Amino acid sequence: MSRKLVTINQVSQHVGEEVTIGAWVANKSGKGKIAFLQLRDGTAFFQAVAFKPNFIETFGEEEGTAKFDTIKRLSQETSVYVTGIVKEDERSKFGYELDVTNLEVIGESTDYPITPKEHGTDFLMDNRHLWLRSRKQMAIQQVRNAIIYATYEFFEKNGFIKFDSPILSGNAAEDSTELFETDYFGQPAFLSQSGQLYLEAGAMALGRVFDFGPVFRAEKSKTRRHLTEFWMMDAEYSFLTHEESLDLQEAYVKALIQGVIDRAPQALETLERDVELLKSYIDQPFKRVPYDEAIDLLQAHENDEDTDYEHLEHGDDFGSPHETWISNYFGVPTFVVNYPASFKAFYMKPVPGNPERVLCADLLAPEGYGEIIGGSMREDNYDALVAKMDELGMDKTEYEFYLDLRKYGSVPHGGFGIGIERMVTFVAGTKHIREAIPFPRMLHRIKP
Ligand code: 4AD
Ligand code: MG
Repeated sequence: MSRKLVTINQVSQHVGEEVTIGAWVANKSGKGKIAFLQLRDGTAFFQAVAFKPNFIETFGEEEGTAKFDTIKRLSQETSVYVTGIVKEDERSKFGYELDVTNLEVIGESTDYPITPKEHGTDFLMDNRHLWLRSRKQMAIQQVRNAIIYATYEFFEKNGFIKFDSPILSGNAAEDSTELFETDYFGQPAFLSQSGQLYLEAGAMALGRVFDFGPVFRAEKSKTRRHLTEFWMMDAEYSFLTHEESLDLQEAYVKALIQGVIDRAPQALETLERDVELLKSYIDQPFKRVPYDEAIDLLQAHENDEDTDYEHLEHGDDFGSPHETWISNYFGVPTFVVNYPASFKAFYMKPVPGNPERVLCADLLAPEGYGEIIGGSMREDNYDALVAKMDELGMDKTEYEFYLDLRKYGSVPHGGFGIGIERMVTFVAGTKHIREAIPFPRMLHRIKP
């Protein structure tokens, strides 16, 4: 008889049928004639039940007993083919279980290091390659996948073309102090911090473009929001105004949240994420607040009983306590717009009539998740950009291609970049960004 191989998330379509599942034994319990196996196969977890008398009936006393004993001895993370009849089961959260008719061990597993007891974070991070098998880590990766899928879907629907920017680069997109340098056949090269500058060329060639790839920042920050290697999605578009750009970003972030609710509902349940709260972010307009108003608000509330942030003057940059306070104050994702030019990137276009402020926005996620998007309108005037670069003492010969874009049919354009791991952390409701990427690279970690 040929087997019918299915995955756990497909069993609902096979109630009453005999199927075979390739899986790992996550846990095991039971006594005497009965054994309960918690199986996982990467799509879901569910329970399989083996009953000794059934094995004896099918295989006879000797073989049936031997098979059942094998099941009872299965250790954590042994890989198996389990064959059985799919049953509906109201008592289990998953709704189905498997009545085991046969089991074949594929690979043994002895002394699996991650047991159901509590482990410290360092231990789990050292065993990241195995930790990824746990329920919560699986759910976070499913959220990440749903966000990536929704990204491609959103941009396809909105007329964008995927335009891959290079990772090896001859210049700095954001800030030269954060670059990882490498040797490129005897010449210095840098790992990309953002594909933006190249995407601007794409926006002049194709109108609306986006990229999605790993970026690298040699930031010595050791916070729960920072990775040294993370995945950024940048988008760039010609002819839009700043307001239109914010509209697009808001629609995109809402599409990502909706995409996770639609495509990974079990993951959100595993993570105990409040789905009604997530839906409320989709239903309400995001807040847009100018930087200077945000400073006024912070100053007005700095002596409130429940606040705990340093005093800021107009012109100062926010720290994460300020960002947290602002987004909590509004209770929805909040765009802080028009920051001071002094601490933003060279390419940002000044606010008309106010050269000290630039047409930019950071999107702050609520619940203390911090900045998830950084974006701006780009300086599209050749002379103004050259003047700015001179003011900052930048080497213009490194940016000839970028300046060319302002020489041949320059148009108003803007864009933004989202750190996918920040977004995953926010939607999944996990505390630390290190769990939002399969193998995190941080200040003190490059292995496994
Ligand atoms: O705000 P950033 O630095 O903006 C840019 O790089 C622009 N060139 C993007 C653009 O306009 N196309 O970075 C964008 C986002 C941040 O909002 C944050 O979500 C994420 O990237 N990010 C990080 N994520 C994890 N670890 C880090 N060290 C990050 N630094 C930035
Ligand atoms: Mg930023």
